Parts: sequence; structure tokens; C-alpha cells
Amino acid sequence: MNKRQRVWFITGISRGLGKALAQVVLAAGDAVIGTTRTGKADWTQDEPGLTLMPLELTDTEAIRKTVADAYALHDRLDVVLNNAGYGLLGAVEEASAEETAHAFAVNFQGPLAVMTAVLPFLRQQRSGHIVNVSSIAGLAPMAGSGLYAAAKFALEGVSEALAQEVAPLGIRITLVEPGAFRTEFLSSDSIRRSEDRIGDYDQTAGKNVDYLATIAGRQAGDPERGARAILAAVDAERPPLHLVLGSDALRRTREKLATLSAELEAWHQLSTSTDYPTF
Ligand SMILES: NC(=O)c1ccc[n+]([C@@H]2O[C@H](COP(=O)([O-])OP(=O)(O)OC[C@H]3O[C@@H](n4cnc5c(N)ncnc54)[C@H](OP(=O)(O)O)[C@@H]3O)[C@@H](O)[C@H]2O)c1
Repeated sequence: MNKRQRVWFITGISRGLGKALAQVVLAAGDAVIGTTRTGKADWTQDEPGLTLMPLELTDTEAIRKTVADAYALHDRLDVVLNNAGYGLLGAVEEASAEETAHAFAVNFQGPLAVMTAVLPFLRQQRSGHIVNVSSIAGLAPMAGSGLYAAAKFALEGVSEALAQEVAPLGIRITLVEPGAFRTEFLSSDSIRRSEDRIGDYDQTAGKNVDYLATIAGRQAGDPERGARAILAAVDAERPPLHLVLGSDALRRTREKLATLSAELEAWHQLSTSTDYPTF
């Protein structure tokens, strides 16, 4: 391996954003250790610089071993990219306990297990960058995405706190919040819809779920451009903690901030009324 090459660990490179990321990073001359559930991916024939490893995100024991094996390969990991995930759609009340647990296992506990497995190595190195692919749903959720959003909010919360804990140790954290990207995310091979249906939510959650079905294959976000944007953020001298991707995600984030800010102002007197009086 060339000494100036960085080593990336990327989950879920079989397709979608993870595949685009692996291809863009390899084209930039860095080495990639990419995971897929089977340990295979059809696009990866003889890709120089790529090592494939099997990883199912609900298997936290396997995550520990895979991360250790990945580190041992080059005796270092420079960028750890938690990309793999899937969406669970439906009203909050429609989600079963099993559907919720699985969405959290894949979108939160799996990435958390990757982070806790890799941190001892990154602390030892006193360097490294963890990039967690969240979602615009992790910043500004819509009706119909509540449990998926909750798992991504959990990833956001952990990442924001962790960023403060590891900054003095030379480790960086970035959350990526994509809007709608033209991957297989909305295809029946990826997205899940809660089985339960409650008619009272047809005009809120149901309407949004139906709308998402109409934009599948027409999403504005280009995965390759998204991958290049993530690479640019990682390359930056001061990488962002939050990287919102796509004009739709930017608009929704701005709307959320404006609404939150206006609400804070409107209620600030009641907010501050709970302090003990100062003498
Ligand atoms: N595309 C969007 O509009 C969008 C928007 C916001 C956020 N995101 C986030 O972006 C990330 C990538 O999604 P994508 O758009 O590239 O979707 P995708 O095309 O459906 O690809 C999802 C990837 O995650 C892997 N994966 C799913 N469940 C897994 C599990 N249990 N264990 C291991 N790997 C698993 C898939 O592997 P298999 O091929 O084996 O299924 C695949 O490699 C996800 O975290 C998603 O939440 C996407």
C-alpha cells in the first residue's frame, strides 16, 4: 500500500450510496475495506485497493470481529463510514415492536457497535474520522417516517456527544444528512412499510408514504455527486459535524431551524420562568 493512501472502512457497499462512495474513494487512490451482507458484490470484480468483508448489522458480535480484522489488514483505519441502513415507513402507531426493534438495530445499534469497536484503534492512533450517514429524517422528520427518524435521531445524538468526547483525542465525527437520493432506498428490496394500517392516518403519514412511492427512481439526489461531496467534506481541513446533502434536505433543515427559532422566541418568557430567582 502506498504510504499516502488512506484506509476507509465502509458498510453496505453492495449498492446505492455505499457503492458510489467506495467507487469514488477507490478512484481517488485510497484503499477501501467494504462490507456487504454476503461478503460479495457484483460490481467489485478485480477492483484494485478494495477488500470485501461480510457484515450483517444486526450481528453485533460479528461487527467487533470484522472491525478488528479490517484494522489488522493495514494496521490502521483512517475513515470509518457507517453507511448501511434502511427506511421504515408508516405512522408511529402502526409500527410493531418487532419492526421498531429491527429499524433501531440496523440504523442505530449496528452503527453504534461499529463505532465502539473502532474507537480503541482510533484512540490508539490519535487520529481517524467517523462518518455516520443519518438522514434529513434525523433532523426534520415528516409524518410517516417516525420510527426511522427516531433511529437516525439516536445516531445524531450519540454522534454529537461523541464528537465532543473524541475531539481532544484527534478523532473527528461527521453526520451526513441526505435528502432524497436516487438509490434503491425506496425500492421494495430496501424500504419497509409497517404491516398495520390505521385509516385515521391516511391523510398524514399515509399521504407521505404514497408520495414517496411516486418519486422512487426520480429523486433529485445523484449518489455519485453525494459520494464526491462526502469525500470533499472528509478532505476539508475542518470537516463539518453536519453535512446536509441535497437542495430538498437544505430547504427542510432551514425550515426546521426557522420554526424552532420562532418558537423559542415566542415562548422564551415561559422557558426562563422556571429558574430560581437570583438575589
Ligand atoms: N437514498 C436516500 O434517499 C436516503 C436518504 C436519507 C438517508 N439515506 C441513508 O443512506 C444510507 C444508504 O442508503 P441507500 O440510499 O444507498 O439505500 P440502498 O440503495 O437501499 O442501499 C442500502 C445498503 O445498506 C445495506 N443494508 C441494509 N440493511 C442491512 C443490514 N441489516 N446489514 C448490513 N447491511 C445492510 C444494503 O445491503 P443489501 O444490498 O445486502 O441489502 C445496501 O448496501 C442509509 O443509511 C440510508 O438510511 C438514504
